[in-house]
Amino acid sequence: MGLTDSAEYLHIKPAQLDPKDYDKLGIIDLHKQGYALGLTPDELFADVTDAYDGHDKEERIDIFLATINGKAIGSITTVNWSEGEPIRGDNYWSLLKKHAPQTHELVHPDNRRAVEVIGRVTHPDFRRKGISAGLLQFMAQEMQPALITGQTKSPEAVLARTSALDGLGFATFYGSFNTSGDTGLKIPSGLIESYLGVRNIPVEEDGVYYYEGRLGSGVPDLSQLPDNIKSSFGNVIAKQQAATNKSLTAVKPLISLRRDLVK
Ligand SMILES: CC(C)(COP(=O)(O)OP(=O)(O)OC[C@H]1O[C@@H](n2cnc3c(N)ncnc32)[C@H](O)[C@@H]1OP(=O)(O)O)[C@@H](O)C(=O)NCCC(=O)NCCS
Repeated sequence: MGLTDSAEYLHIKPAQLDPKDYDKLGIIDLHKQGYALGLTPDELFADVTDAYDGHDKEERIDIFLATINGKAIGSITTVNWSEGEPIRGDNYWSLLKKHAPQTHELVHPDNRRAVEVIGRVTHPDFRRKGISAGLLQFMAQEMQPALITGQTKSPEAVLARTSALDGLGFATFYGSFNTSGDTGLKIPSGLIESYLGVRNIPVEEDGVYYYEGRLGSGVPDLSQLPDNIKSSFGNVIAKQQAATNKSLTAVKPLISLRRDLVK
């Protein structure tokens, strides 16, 4: 039996977590080791709870944990961007209607579900064992999204998202670059504009922009990336190298959508 079979997958809401659960479930340690955060215990607790319920424990946050013997070894956190969700969801679907009308039209009104992945981490001792892929697939089954949005500069995150969702029928684009290997498939026009529009980020250079977050200002290591995908990181690296402030991370949108929506 592989690790992914022995791990237990949990779907929880921030409101279900008591302060003591963060330690009990190993969530604090996962974030500390997984993101290599050099913070004091109090700062760590504030950082993790802010990532989970900095949105006032709103219903729109979902946490997916992979646990072994009751301790978290991987997590994915998402924000609901479905139609009917008033903070970002309704805005996203109206922007899709405006900027990407064909894609919008292809999604049946009952299926206008989307999520933004806002956090994704696997404990360093458990990487390359399919944990993040298993979590993404679990999340997709639970949430049934037509579109999965997010942003990153991490080659591992791009690869893991692409391969995990491929089998579930999703195509993945890093900026406008199709990482799914299906070269005939082009990103629907207006998809990047709609994603960035929700967050009032102007679109430039294939969607590259700065973000202030925990990923820091390191330049991504592309050595493990297949050659064909390396080129899609060129503008991210140039922007990261140009950053004058250490807290600025250069990122691009990472968007997956059901293949039948890419026409
Ligand atoms: C990104 C991250 C969550 C991936 O977690 P993981 O559990 O190791 O990923 P998986 O084992 O599920 O990987 C699935 C697939 O992704 C690809 N992949 C993942 N990491 C890779 C790496 N370092 N090099 C090459 N391919 C990689 C592989 O195709 C892999 O499948 P395979 O092992 O069968 O070849 C993990 O590397 C991490 O926590 N990184 C630090 C935090 C971070 O950068 N998070 C993303 C923020 S946007």
